[in-house]
Amino acid sequence: MTEQVNTLLWDDLYKQRQSLLKYPDSTFVTLLHRKLQVEKHKRVLDYGFGGGANMRVLLKRGHQVSGVEISDAVIQINLQILEEEGLTAQLHKSDGHRLPFADQSFDAIVPWHVLGYNSRDSLAEVLEEFKRVLQPGGVVLGTIPAYGDVSHQHSEQLSDIEFISKVPEQNGARILCLPDEQSVRRLLQQEHAEVGLLQCPMLGTGFSRHWVYFYEN
Ligand SMILES: C[S@@+](CC[C@H](N)C(=O)[O-])C[C@H]1O[C@@H](n2cnc3c(N)ncnc32)[C@H](O)[C@@H]1O
Repeated sequence: MTEQVNTLLWDDLYKQRQSLLKYPDSTFVTLLHRKLQVEKHKRVLDYGFGGGANMRVLLKRGHQVSGVEISDAVIQINLQILEEEGLTAQLHKSDGHRLPFADQSFDAIVPWHVLGYNSRDSLAEVLEEFKRVLQPGGVVLGTIPAYGDVSHQHSEQLSDIEFISKVPEQNGARILCLPDEQSVRRLLQQEHAEVGLLQCPMLGTGFSRHWVYFYEN
């Protein structure tokens, strides 16, 4: 159910060509260079690549990239952009459950601004899949919404960390928002995860506030 609501919502946005960020996230680019080495972390899974700007940074840096998305529309858009730019990545449709990859297929996973679109239970399933498809010692670099994010401020609360978004473009989406670094480590079941706050003013509509995390499998 969670996935169905979120899939329809994202597919609809992308069909209207909304939410297609054309530029990479500068924090993603900085941390990518600090935390991932091209040779050591050759095989990268871009989980929920959306407009694909971060994915194209990975490709141009020399990583071998696979991507999964729940939206068919955005997969088609990315295939066209990749062709126009002469880049190659393996893009797959995800059903939000089992990832279409063999065990230990990746050296790194980058779920950037994606894992928040879950319930606590669906996230637990996703994290199990991350463990399965990552090489031992593989790494995860991603984000999850923090309390005070615009999606948290315009939402209906279901539990301490589960909400239903009331943000107009994402109305009805199931989301997770976390209050502090410790709750991020607990939710990810990664007590040694490095966690930091990424905050960006949206100028007029509040703040984008996300926890950034990095951990090793
Ligand atoms: C806020 S966008 C982020 C896109 C991209 N990672 C970026 O940083 O620009 C969230 C994306 O996650 C995708 N998504 C949501 N749930 C997903 C899931 N369970 N599996 C794969 N993709 C998912 C959505 O379709 C959407 O493209």
